Amino acid sequence: MSRPDDPTVRLGRLDQAHVWHPFTQMAEWVHSEPLVIAAGEREFLIDTEGNRYIDGVSSLWCNLHGHRRPEIDEAIRVQLGRIAHSTLLGLASPPSIELAERLVGLAPGGLTRVFYSDSGATAVEIALKMAFQYWRQCDPPRPEKTRFVHLAEAYHGDTLGAVSVGGMDLFHALYRPLLFETIEAPAPYCYRCPLDTRPETCDQACAAAMEKILADRADETAAVIIEPLVQGAAGMITHPPGYLRRVADACRRHDVLLICDEVATGFGRTGRMFACEHEDVRPDLLCLAKGISGGYLPLAATLATDRIHAAFLGEHAEHRTFFHGHTYTGNALACAAGLASLDIFESDAVLDRIRDLERALAEGLAPVAALPHVGQVRQRGVMVGIELVADTDTREPYPPGIRMGARACEAAVRRGVWVRPLGDVVVLMPPYCTSDASLARILDAVRDGIAEATTP
Ligand SMILES: Cc1ncc(COP(=O)(O)O)c(C=O)c1O
Repeated sequence: MSRPDDPTVRLGRLDQAHVWHPFTQMAEWVHSEPLVIAAGEREFLIDTEGNRYIDGVSSLWCNLHGHRRPEIDEAIRVQLGRIAHSTLLGLASPPSIELAERLVGLAPGGLTRVFYSDSGATAVEIALKMAFQYWRQCDPPRPEKTRFVHLAEAYHGDTLGAVSVGGMDLFHALYRPLLFETIEAPAPYCYRCPLDTRPETCDQACAAAMEKILADRADETAAVIIEPLVQGAAGMITHPPGYLRRVADACRRHDVLLICDEVATGFGRTGRMFACEHEDVRPDLLCLAKGISGGYLPLAATLATDRIHAAFLGEHAEHRTFFHGHTYTGNALACAAGLASLDIFESDAVLDRIRDLERALAEGLAPVAALPHVGQVRQRGVMVGIELVADTDTREPYPPGIRMGARACEAAVRRGVWVRPLGDVVVLMPPYCTSDASLARILDAVRDGIAEATTP
């Protein structure tokens, strides 16, 4: 970037003058040279200069089958020839009906009702409000069940309800005065066990802690909300096998609803369509977003059981209605994209491809794990977190000011692979269409990027 009349320079300057970026320290951003992405193709992002970068994190975990996927492009075009959007408040629309039927068919058993919204955070807000209202309207009503249990280090989005059930101090602590009270259970984070136990001998003390919370406080608890199997934003914390099953069983035993937030884990990321399937768990409420539209358009859904839905039925004047909605709820273009994305899962045997990618990632990550400042490599399906530490023996983190995760990712970007860290955890989550050659390039760039950044 040099000449000020260069279109890329101009766009970068305008961006820095007017666009406030999410989760971004703008004082740093205005001194950076923003990558301006003008196009995409399969697993590649293409900037305004024509440079290609492999999209190593699926555009923040939402793109499933690649960019400009012809089938999804075409489905949106066809829908555009009919109508882009009509409201679901008082009207129905074919794509939202058909997608609801497909989602119900794919989701864990018992989830029969689909409430649309447009982001992961709204899907979570809706689940929380439904759970709260359910206990006021079930038969007999249990209005004292108002509390939510969540995990430490949980992330469920950035709206205030979702932040209330969040557990990441860096993102959430400032907003505490605005939040409702919750009950926090220890995270099953074996690498940094909050209970100071060892996975070989602890018999899942974290699950026992959750069971005790529910045994003691079920009377006041509406629901447990959990990211099943992988706590994504916390740094791809992978839960030990059986943990989710124990939480689900405890919820059933104590008559507490279970909300599974599969915004990140849904649509194949963990190797099954939904993470709950690994432990045969059937939640009462399921939150979906990100990949639901193939990563094309903002769409989310909260799925509920008949039991939940029935508690909202009644005479008009009883006011049992779920008083919630968003303008773009069930947007026709987004639902058409979602249907085309589900078709690709079938036509391209995508779950088989995910298994191949999972294996190739596991093999390719072995040399990364051997690097001197890699504390742990965590992988579930095609979700990967590489935790960088100052000292692998003591597991001492780097001082935050060093921005080690960011530096390692910047070094990978210089090698043509777009990745973004979570603190000092380098995240990989490639789209399912990623070729073997591109996957090898991702792994090389990340290995070399980490080595470059961590070498004194
Ligand atoms: C598990 C989980 N829930 C909710 C969200 C929020 O989704 P959105 O950014 O679409 O609001 C995220 C986003 O990363 C997530 O990982």
